Amino acid sequence: MSKAVGDLGLVGLAVMGQNLILNAADHGFTVVAYNRTQSKVDRFLANEAKGKSIIGATSIEDLVAKLKKPRKIMLLIKAGAPVDILIRELVPHLDKGDIIIDGGNSHFPDTNRRYEELTKQGILFVGSGVSGGEDGARFGPSLMPGGSAEAWPHIKNIFQSIAAKSDGEPCCEWVGPAGSGHYVKMVHNGIEYGDMQLICEAYDIMKRIGRFTDKEISEVFDKWNTGVLDSFLIEITRDILKFDDVDGKPLVEKIMDTAGQKGTGKWTAINALDLGMPVTLIGEAVFSRCLSAIKDERKRASKLLAGPTVPKNAIHDRQQFVYDLEQALYASKIISYAQGFMLIREAARSYGWKLNNPAIALMWRGGCIIRSIFLAEITKAYRDDPDLENLLFNKFFASAVTKAQSGWRRSIALAATYGVPTPAFSTALAFYDGYRSERLPANLLQAQRDYFGAHTFRVLPECASAHLPVDKDIHINWTGHGGNISSSTYQA
Ligand code: 6PG
Repeated sequence: MSKAVGDLGLVGLAVMGQNLILNAADHGFTVVAYNRTQSKVDRFLANEAKGKSIIGATSIEDLVAKLKKPRKIMLLIKAGAPVDILIRELVPHLDKGDIIIDGGNSHFPDTNRRYEELTKQGILFVGSGVSGGEDGARFGPSLMPGGSAEAWPHIKNIFQSIAAKSDGEPCCEWVGPAGSGHYVKMVHNGIEYGDMQLICEAYDIMKRIGRFTDKEISEVFDKWNTGVLDSFLIEITRDILKFDDVDGKPLVEKIMDTAGQKGTGKWTAINALDLGMPVTLIGEAVFSRCLSAIKDERKRASKLLAGPTVPKNAIHDRQQFVYDLEQALYASKIISYAQGFMLIREAARSYGWKLNNPAIALMWRGGCIIRSIFLAEITKAYRDDPDLENLLFNKFFASAVTKAQSGWRRSIALAATYGVPTPAFSTALAFYDGYRSERLPANLLQAQRDYFGAHTFRVLPECASAHLPVDKDIHINWTGHGGNISSSTYQA
């Protein structure tokens, strides 16, 4: 009979799983490692895990038998059907009150469903975002757990011990019910897509308009990394740009310009559309990856479709050019995070989740891919006012965007003049200008809808009259020969 000594069971010995086990063992926890392919367990125990508080399990039964109660079993396996299969295999061996944690990039509706099903069976289920890649898993990831709240006191110590720390605080807090942990991770990934796209646009402008070499661009990123843009993604970009291949040429320039994606950014954009939230920057970041992927078609179009050419002396003041770009990146990033938090706020409202915004910002502050100095300011903004309606209503961010906007506008104008695409910079600015417009041209749009489809419109209170009553759906016979019957109203 196996001895129940394990504090945590971990299923899945791919790179994230192995590193998380080592991390937990370093923090004094005894971890039971299981993988369907037994040889993976044996190899891990004989190498990386040797001499550490890590024991192997030969089967699901063995894994369960080696864990202290309530058992805590974390799955770090491929999202989708494999998670359901493993849960089905695990459950018959568990007792009520045992805890299953899914640490993969699961889609939050799946987590909602699993949470419902397992709750009925008395099993506590946690869907946890885990971010930070290999290094994060090994030395401190950002962890975003949500689901059965009763599980939290049992896993809190393990999770907060192994998580990254930011100014001494763990980048891990309880997110909320059901699939909210995975939801927050999904938005994190969407923001990650946005941050990456913004950086790529800045690089492209420096390269194509400024004619900077990769080394020079790397130096710019190095400098930016000491200011408001200080972040993991800026830092790795700096390093990528100065990484030479064996022939002494920058490796990055040899990489095929077609972006891959596993779907979390797309899920965020789809969810934003479902919830009617204008999360435009993440949407553009996803579409930019899609556009990059149709390389052959772009190749043909590049021969057929004309655009401006960039003259050699397009930039007169290099310093100003770089400064403007930094402002463009900073302002666009503020918009992206404001949009991300708008989405989280709407999700909380629509799904009936009580989410903790300051904790979400803190969880993203360290350990994860989007970690940055900037998130310290967001944490502060939400700590000062947890119900902040929009990040742009916070004094710090409102004044930061105000200060950055002339450089931001100049960068976009310059790129448009010379035909360099800036989908993320531009959509951020369009959002900003739309958001700060009390009046948008949707009045005309409503008129058009009513003209061709009798979709009705509402009248401005100050323009109400006997035939245009306020708070009523009005249909006008615009042509004289249309009918007076309005179509039913669909509100997105
Ligand atoms: C993280 C990352 C990670 C994600 C990769 C790849 O937080 O550690 O978000 O979860 O899987 O970044 O994502 P794409 O393949 O979709 O770019």
